[in-house]
Amino acid sequence: MSNASPASSTWSQRFESALHPAIARFNASIEFDIALIEYDINGSQAHARMLAHTGIISSDEGEQLVAGLEQVRQEYRQGYFTPGVEAEDVHFAVERRLTEIVGDVGKKLHTARSRNDQVGTDTRLYLRDQIQQIRVQLRDFQTVLVTLADQHVETLIPGYTHLQRAQPLSLAHHLLAYFEMSQRDWERLGEIHRRVNVSPLGSGALAGTTFPIDRHYTAQLLDFGDVYANSLDGVSDRDFAIEFLCAASLIMVHLSRLSEEIILWASQEFSFVTLTDSCATGSSIMPQKKNPDVPELVRGKVGRVFGHLQGMLVLMKGLPLAYNKDLQEDKEALFDAVTTVRACLEAMTILLQEGLEFRTARLHDAVNEDFSNATDVADYLAAKGVPFREAYNLVGKVVKTSLSQGKLLKDLTLDEWKRLHPAFEADIYAAIAPAQVVAARNSYGGTGFEQVRQALQTAKVRMNQTS
Ligand code: ARG
Repeated sequence: MSNASPASSTWSQRFESALHPAIARFNASIEFDIALIEYDINGSQAHARMLAHTGIISSDEGEQLVAGLEQVRQEYRQGYFTPGVEAEDVHFAVERRLTEIVGDVGKKLHTARSRNDQVGTDTRLYLRDQIQQIRVQLRDFQTVLVTLADQHVETLIPGYTHLQRAQPLSLAHHLLAYFEMSQRDWERLGEIHRRVNVSPLGSGALAGTTFPIDRHYTAQLLDFGDVYANSLDGVSDRDFAIEFLCAASLIMVHLSRLSEEIILWASQEFSFVTLTDSCATGSSIMPQKKNPDVPELVRGKVGRVFGHLQGMLVLMKGLPLAYNKDLQEDKEALFDAVTTVRACLEAMTILLQEGLEFRTARLHDAVNEDFSNATDVADYLAAKGVPFREAYNLVGKVVKTSLSQGKLLKDLTLDEWKRLHPAFEADIYAAIAPAQVVAARNSYGGTGFEQVRQALQTAKVRMNQTS
């Protein structure tokens, strides 16, 4: 380190020498917070307008700042403005370039604000936009789910508990379960949006400012729904980011569960779906293979998002009020979580839309070759007055003997049924046919076709909700 190096142009006269180059790199966030540049410019323009509006600077100065900031934006968009590590972060980079463009008036921009309230503002503006875009993507995902469900109301698929055959389902019912999850995701993001959409601008470094600013004015210009009531909280709160990471983690949980099912369904053992060529990949050595890379990658990417949530919680837990540089670490986590969720939602939407073909003949055979109608035999007797537990025990015995004889329930003769219990009649066969087994579960929210058709209608209405 050379003592002859000039004092940093960033800091006040208190500093006499420049940062060690490695420390400058270590300290800098420009490499990643450049992603916030447009939001930083929007925030600064609102701040400049407010300074002019309140008479803290002249209206002419305000206009010069706003126009200069606009030029910074254009230069960035056109690739002329590419600040490096010497700028430290996006906030300094923009202010410096502005001052080069408009001259000394640029130095007035930072009146009555701090990078602490500035970075909080930028991050919220960014996240607010991303949340809305993720909500649009969730709607696209739902549209594909509903379209697919529409085609498969009467396609039967084995239903499982403990990954053991349980009761047959309408495939549409199964798909609509994911609609419900994504609907909660959509609603949750809407609720979080309200708390993200609060302006910390004007909190200053931590204590507010001596200038007669108007925080509600900047909030209104930036379309914030509210302003932080406490300046310390305003600059140091990252609850909104943690809430988002929770919501993002839940979206990933849902996508991952669907991925896991698709991976199972595509296996030779299940063979419920075929992966189309547009969404599957081959093996470099085994020519027969078709791999479900898309759902596997989605399942794999979940860890990053959960990790960011955990990381952010740990980041916050020991921080004394108010701003601490630790908070610079919030951004990469947030950016990566946003990118990951968006990429996974896009990939899964495409996968559902064109990457899967349900093997309906195979699904039909599957539900016809198991004991997943056993509950229906018990229900049959219970409906005729036999206490359910008694009926349940009796059917257990039937399943046991049928298994030992290599038979299914539908293979029993009427005589055999009657010997088991006199209440059995010829209509037992119809009652245990898979389509009837499904149709009969007509309780609200059940898999009965009538219920599923109703649920599909409701899903279409709910999908058009805008708030
Ligand atoms: N780059 C910083 C961050 O991301 C901006 C705020 C810096 N504030 C400070 N007092 N050093 O958090």
